[in-house]
Amino acid sequence: MRFLITGGLGFIGSNMIHYLLKKYPDISICNLDKMTYAGNPANLSDIENDPRYSFVKGDIADAAIVEKTFAEFQPDVVIHFAAETHVDRSIADPDVFIRSNTIGTHELLKAAKAHNVTRFHHVSTDEVYGHIALDSDERWTEESPYGPRSPYSASKAASDHFVRAYYHTYGLPITISNCANNIGPYMYPEKLLPLAITNILEGKKVPMYPPGNQVREWLYVEDHCSAIDSIVSKGIPGETYFVGPDNPQLSNLEVIKKLLAIMERGEDMIEFVKDRPGHDQKYALDHSKITRELGWHPRYSLDESLERMVDWYTKNEAWWKPLKSGEYLEYYTQQYLTRE
Ligand code: DAU
Repeated sequence: MRFLITGGLGFIGSNMIHYLLKKYPDISICNLDKMTYAGNPANLSDIENDPRYSFVKGDIADAAIVEKTFAEFQPDVVIHFAAETHVDRSIADPDVFIRSNTIGTHELLKAAKAHNVTRFHHVSTDEVYGHIALDSDERWTEESPYGPRSPYSASKAASDHFVRAYYHTYGLPITISNCANNIGPYMYPEKLLPLAITNILEGKKVPMYPPGNQVREWLYVEDHCSAIDSIVSKGIPGETYFVGPDNPQLSNLEVIKKLLAIMERGEDMIEFVKDRPGHDQKYALDHSKITRELGWHPRYSLDESLERMVDWYTKNEAWWKPLKSGEYLEYYTQQYLTRE
């Protein structure tokens, strides 16, 4: 089986490549990645010489490089991770999100159709459904209406619609997964948990958007990879599957307090900063469809996920330390220290 993975140098994409190479001895993987600030060759340094793996540097919104990659590699399956993903960056600069997430997805769809792939799997997010009031027990299902509220989620929602359109209009065998917040190794330290862990390891405070009562569902990235593997091998073309954890719902503040307990630090490490505009209050998925139809279950509890993550970041300072300099420091200063 020949897999084209887009965005394979990013957090979830690189975890997926590790997962596939470990599980399937006879596959070929081509990784098409633009190498943005979040695409880190160090994520795959352990497998870069594996004969089953090849790399193409390129932008998915560049039709010529996309066509060349499909023509030369001839993938059976595409698993599409490449995306700009950080909500705060999308608020500061939406254009690149539209280019990569929406136009880029469309370029891939055109090539996948032209080259008759057997599956185009699109990796999407729960955020396309909008947000849920904190006092509501609602959980979204795959039938819930879309209602994105940030430039990031709007660009992902648009991409989901194009992916479905290619199924209905051209019969492209697509599947979509909409997943909860992922955590785990190789996660760029701009999102809440890797930012919190690396800040604490550096003796710095955790920036918390007030009042910290917002709710997210946290899934260990390996569980996301196993879900995508199930969907690609057993999912029905044209279908969407939700992927999420079985953990109790906790606020951001409760999650950070758990983390501080694991890292043996006090709550004085939390610092409230200026809130994110349009901050989504709660995401909650009903993932019973993938469990019922494909037999997938998440394996890791939140406590275990946090412990594994702290352990990995503690042992891999050489991976994250260099990331927290240069462009990152400019972003950090703008986002947390000087934003009006
Ligand atoms: O739900 C899936 C989505 O999860 C993915 O599609 C996105 O790519 C991913 O970025 C993530 O979006 P969130 O906005 O939920 O993740 P983030 O880590 O940025 O924020 C999680 C929560 O923590 C959110 O309520 C905002 C809050 N937060 C975040 C940061 C970065 C803080 O309180 N302080 C922070 O410094």
